[in-house]
Amino acid sequence: MYGIVNKAIEDLVTEQFGTAVWKQVLDKSGVDVDFFISNEPYDDAITYSLAGTVAEVLNTSVSNVLVLFGEYWILKTGKEKYGGLLEAGGKNLREFLINLPSFHKRIMIMYPKLTPPEFELSHVEENSVWVHYFSKREGLKDFVQGLLQGLGKLYKTEIEIELLQDRDKGADHEIFKVRW
Ligand code: HEM
Repeated sequence: MYGIVNKAIEDLVTEQFGTAVWKQVLDKSGVDVDFFISNEPYDDAITYSLAGTVAEVLNTSVSNVLVLFGEYWILKTGKEKYGGLLEAGGKNLREFLINLPSFHKRIMIMYPKLTPPEFELSHVEENSVWVHYFSKREGLKDFVQGLLQGLGKLYKTEIEIELLQDRDKGADHEIFKVRW
């Protein structure tokens, strides 16, 4: 994944737990990188290793780290570094989610080597939608959970998220029902 993702993990850990904890994560993970260049692609293994080691060092689960990171990605990385892009995504949560399937197309202009997630929407109602998540990568559904929670906070909308279908249970993609 692009360095911006690893850099955001570094920023999250540094801001919320301190530079000493980040140093410990780097040492323990064996990731031998002095600093991440945002617009350079890195091996996915680096991102997975960082997330796993953060969980170990903080004595929590990888799921928790991914949820935390998803929220951080929207509320800090997205808002501070890509505010315009997020705003262009919609004037409220419902509109943002309806536009989500095309969101990473705009990102590919900045990051042409992106391997983006794919989203589809169904069951679009006034107060709920089903968000279908497809990915070539494994194990990131909790990241999506955190991203959706972050979007709820961004739009100051209280939401409930229900996982209707799960790749871990044999399905070919995840379905999140988002209700507000
Ligand atoms: C300013 C906002 C955003 C930016 C700049 C951004 C950019 C990126 C980048 C650079 C990656 C790494 C992929 C790669 O390098 O190949 C990524 C992955 C991902 N993004 Fe976004 N993104 C944004 C918002 C969102 C939103 C709103 C969602 C969904 C709610 C989302 C869902 C994901 C997921 C799930 C992945 C993991 C990749 C996968 O599942 O295969 N992103 N994004």
